[in-house]
Formats: sequence, C-alpha cells, structure tokens
Amino acid sequence: MDLAQDREAARRRAFAIISHPDAGKTTLTEKLLLYARAIHLAGSVKSRKASKHALSDWMAIEKERGISVTSSVLQFEHQGKVLNLLDTPGHADFSEDTYRVLAAVDSAVMLMDHSKGVEARTKKLFEVCRLRKVPVITFMNKLDRAGLEPLALVDDVSQQLNLKVAPLNWPIGMGREFRGVIDLATKDVLLFEAEAHGTQVIEAKRVSFEEAKTLVEPHLMARAEEELELVAMAGEQWSVEGFLSGDLSPCFWGSAMTNFGVEPLLEFLALQAAPPGPRATEDGTVIQPKDERFSGFIFKIQANMNPKHRDRIAFLRVVSGHFERDMDVVIGRNQQTMRMANPHSFMAQERSLLESAYPGDIVGIHDPGKLRVGDTLAAGGPMRFAGIPRFAPEHFGMLRLSDPLKRKAMDTGIEQLAHEGVIQLFYRIGVDRTNPYLGAVGLLQFEVLKERLKHEYGVEAKFEALPFKLARWIGGAPEALTWLKGSSSFTVMEDRNGHPVLLCDSDWWINYAKQNAKGVELYDIEPL
Ligand code: G4P
Repeated sequence: MDLAQDREAARRRAFAIISHPDAGKTTLTEKLLLYARAIHLAGSVKSRKASKHALSDWMAIEKERGISVTSSVLQFEHQGKVLNLLDTPGHADFSEDTYRVLAAVDSAVMLMDHSKGVEARTKKLFEVCRLRKVPVITFMNKLDRAGLEPLALVDDVSQQLNLKVAPLNWPIGMGREFRGVIDLATKDVLLFEAEAHGTQVIEAKRVSFEEAKTLVEPHLMARAEEELELVAMAGEQWSVEGFLSGDLSPCFWGSAMTNFGVEPLLEFLALQAAPPGPRATEDGTVIQPKDERFSGFIFKIQANMNPKHRDRIAFLRVVSGHFERDMDVVIGRNQQTMRMANPHSFMAQERSLLESAYPGDIVGIHDPGKLRVGDTLAAGGPMRFAGIPRFAPEHFGMLRLSDPLKRKAMDTGIEQLAHEGVIQLFYRIGVDRTNPYLGAVGLLQFEVLKERLKHEYGVEAKFEALPFKLARWIGGAPEALTWLKGSSSFTVMEDRNGHPVLLCDSDWWINYAKQNAKGVELYDIEPL
C-alpha cells in the first residue's frame, strides 16, 4: 500500500449541489469558493452566468438561451482537505447530465429555498442520490427572507423525501428578524450581520447562548428555544453512520447571498463529508480507493470546450490508485490501450496540466473519439465498473435528412453523440440499426444534437417528434416480453445494449401492461 496515496485519497471530498432552479446554487457555489479563499472576487461564478456562456461558449444555443449546458469541476482546499465540487447544469432539460454527475460524487448538498421547501427538481435529484446511496447534506437558503416555519419545513422535507433530517444548527427568526443560528453541538450562537454581501468574508460572531439572550430580542430567542426543545424531543438524533449510509441528512440554515451560514457548511464538507468510497466491478469485485492499481470511470464527455480548437474532453473520476500523466491505461470495454498524455485539472474557466491525481479527483482527458460515458480505465489490464445507468427519456423523435447522401454521416454522428450521452437511441428489434428513434430526458437535448450534427458532421436534419412520453425497460418473465411484442397496443424497441424497452404515451398504458403481461417488470432506469 502506498501511504502517500492513502493519505491523499483520505483528504478528498467529491460532491455536487442539487437544487431546483433559483434556490441559489450559483450563489452558494461562489460563496463556498470565497470562504475557502479559492476566489478573491466572489461574483466570478455569477459573472460567468451573467455573461450567459459559462465555461463553454461552444454552442450558439447556450448563448441564445442564456443557459449553461455543461458541467464544470471546481477544485479547492479547506482545512487541509481537497474539495472537488462537480457543478451540474442549471437547466432541467439537461438533468440526464446531472444524474451522471451524481454517479461520480461521494456526497451531495441539497440546497433549498426555505420559502419553497421541496420543489419538483430537488425531489427528482434526491431520488437519484438515494438510488446510489449518496449521503445528502441539506442547506436551507435565503433566511434573510421570510419563509416557512422551520419545524414545518423540516417535517415537510422529511415526509416528502422519506428522509431523516437532523438539524445541526437552528435559525433564530427569519426575514427582517433573522438574527443567526444556534449551533446544536455547542449551543453557541452565530450572529447574523445583515450588511454582509458580495466579496466580504465575514466570520460570523460566535457568542454563548446566554450572551445571545442579552443581544437578541427575547421573543425570538424564546421561540427558537421552544422549537429546539421540540427538535430534541421529536427530531432525529445526529449520527455520522446514519449520514454516511444515506439515511440521515444533516441540516444547516443560512443565507448564501449575505455570506451567512456558508462557513459551517464548508466546515462540515471538509471534515465530515464522505471520503472517496469503494466501487464494484461488473464481476462483483469491490475496488477500494487504497488499492494500488489505478482505476477510474468516465462520467461525462464534453465536446468543444475550447472553441479555438475542436476537442472533446472526457471527465474521469479516479476510483483507486495513483493517476499519473503519461501513464498507459486500458479501456475495459474494448481492451484498447490509451496514453494519458494531456490530462487536465479544472478551476472554473482555467484548465491546467495535471501531473497526478488521487481517488476522489476528477481528471479531464483529451478524447480522440475513443471513449464513451461509462467506460472504465485501468492500469495493467481491463476492468469494468458496473455502469452508469440511463434514465427513462420523456421525449422522443426521429431525424429526417434533407440530403439522403448524408445518411452515413448522420448514422455515425448520432451513434457517437449517443455514446457521449447527448441522446439515447432505440432500435427496431430484428431490423438493421439505421434510423433509430431518439430519446431525451429534456427537449433541448435534441437541439444540441441537431446543432452538433450540423457543425461537426455537416449533416442538416429535420427533427420530427414522436408521440411517446414514457419509456420503460422490460424485465421479468420472458413470456411477458413475448406478449408485449405481439400486442398491437405497444411499441417495443431495444436500446444500445439490446435490452427491450417499452415506449408509450401515458401511465395508463404502463398499468395496462402490468396487468396484462403476466410476470412483467418495468423499470424507469436501465437495468445494469
Ligand atoms: P440558481 O443558480 O440556483 O438558479 O440560483 P442563483 O444563485 O442564481 O440565485 C437565484 C436568485 O436567488 C438570485 O436572485 C440570487 O441573488 C438569489 N439568492 C441566492 N441566495 C440568496 C439568499 O441567501 N437570499 C436572498 N434573498 N436571495 C438569494 P436574482 O434576482 O435572480 O439574481 P441577481 O439579480 O441577484 O443576480
């Protein structure tokens, strides 16, 4: 065992922030960087957003619509720990990208606007965390504004997500009466200063509970005290094991915009968030971060990050061993060897050449078109991690070519773009694989596809929507599949791996299939 590697792995924290749009993800990201002293000028994340082409001005539609299609990775240090924050696209149409990012983190911050509570997108992203048992830290944001009663909010989160929530601090007042938070471990009070904003790193004043009583209006302290008694009686007990197993979420309160409450969260991320975990291979072997042999997997492929030269970057999450520049690795899928000649690390817009990386790190690799999302790279021979699952698309369509001579270019283009995870393909069973149906979780994925086919493959194609709204992978009794294929009410296709998939336009048909196709099992996530 390599001690340096062990030590480096143990100090990595890979995490992502999940939230509904407008909860304050950009603001919180910026403030985490600010408090970790990683940026001097808070606002740089924001200004990237404001300039409407965060990280990747590679595609016109990003600029036109002012959305960020891509995910970036930010690395910074705090309290001797290396934090790798994997950003996720803000737009719901790219939630598939977000799902894949969640396959590459060890914990997630679930950020909520405390006046809204659990919103649709948060719920969906949380379900993905649960599926992978990713430990989740809750942050209630915007306390400088009026919101829901804290007790009711905690209860609501707990009910809606079927999750135990253990507050680690508790707010005193809210909105104009927001005075700070009580640290439940020490009973100290962190006092809020309403004027703090922007680039000011304010270390909140910490006073004892008794002292706080002399500083804060009695009715606010009394209410907070009452609430705390209820939390102590009826609330969840904090336990590290509960958190790391994904059953219990620690909860923090604050106001990212006014630089309050970010520090306790950052501290928790550095000191208690999950370190890099093990990962199982397809044959059931469990690979530990401390294993000497290098391994990792690709969770994202990003084309044309640099508009000056067309390139593709594959994002690799290191699972075990020590990654070094110029090392040779084997792609598990086809056993080809690839030299890691130009690996990069990421800091916002800057990419710098990387010499080495450890479990929990993200490495950017120049991809000459050899890699696919879900690929395992390992030193010394092939290895295959259990894949990154695909999520059921909700939009479907086909492409019609303007120029029939471009058929081959189009087929190549959509195959490659499907490997990158831009869209999913569904094929007619038993027929050659031309002209597949296209599936996407968000409609904008089709626009990305069209744009990229045009710019990178010289193919102009018209998109025609198909009337399906749901896809379910089919499992269970083989007779059920036979029955579904034989029924004129159902469209059964197969995915890239030959798994049968049912396409239909409403839940009604799914229930009908469940009732009539004896022994059928239907999954909204691709079975591994
Ligand atoms: P997102 O990335 O999750 O979509 O959210 P973002 O950070 O862009 O924040 C959404 C809005 O919420 C922004 O306001 C932001 O300033 C505001 N916000 C974030 N954190 C807080 C907070 O703690 N308190 C309050 N009161 N507001 C917060 P905006 O008006 O859309 O943009 P801007 O004009 O402030 O840039």
